[in-house]
Amino acid sequence: MRRPFIAGNWKMNLDRAAAIALAEGLVKHSEGKVGVDLAVCPPSVYLDAVGRVIAGSKIALGAQNVYHEANGAYTGEISVAMLQDLGCKYVILGHSERRHVLGETDAAINKKVHAALKGGLVPIVCVGELLEEREASKTLEVIRRQFDGSLAGVSEAQMKTLVIAYEPVWAIGTGKVATPAQAEEVHLDLRKILQERYNKGVAEAVRIQYGGSVKPDNAAELLAQPDIDGALVGGASLKVDQFLGIAAGAPK
Ligand code: PGA
Repeated sequence: MRRPFIAGNWKMNLDRAAAIALAEGLVKHSEGKVGVDLAVCPPSVYLDAVGRVIAGSKIALGAQNVYHEANGAYTGEISVAMLQDLGCKYVILGHSERRHVLGETDAAINKKVHAALKGGLVPIVCVGELLEEREASKTLEVIRRQFDGSLAGVSEAQMKTLVIAYEPVWAIGTGKVATPAQAEEVHLDLRKILQERYNKGVAEAVRIQYGGSVKPDNAAELLAQPDIDGALVGGASLKVDQFLGIAAGAPK
């Protein structure tokens, strides 16, 4: 059985005091939450402070991005080793905002995936279609292209450790959540791709999160789908009760 995994993507929100307060609230109220993995991905400048608050708790630390080179003259970038130094376990890669706002390509994401895996971070690799792509019935084609481009050259053993997040771009931050059936269709297709490119064991091992306007009141229905193994949560991860309310919707 794949263990449900709920991760909060705080994006470019909060200030230092608010980030610390949110982390403290999550630690306090997540005690005794069993059967689900939890992680928070604060802005990189607050990783250190948040990491200190959640140390020893059941909440893991993740980053929102990383650069693929190990070190050197890359102004403004952050390496895998630096993230590990701060206690990060996860890194979100290929988020739609990085793809569509910041122009990241599948090739660039692929380099980051390899750097993260090599350095021992667990990538949460995001894929998802734009509204016009869905309306043109291109969803599965887009997902396959992003999968093949972002995950090229990942070994079977590495793939088993990695997390995929299906995030339809039209559902992110819009309040328009994919229906459980719409999400499940893509998750099932991702599992088929894993089976085609690797094997059944890999397809059954990889956790696939859904992301896009997940809230406490829609989480349980989404998480009850057989191929949805968790959630990548944006807006609702900024409130203790909402984030933990989503986690409470995970099947036990
Ligand atoms: P949202 O963001 O929950 O605010 O829609 C999800 C995400 O971007 O990961």
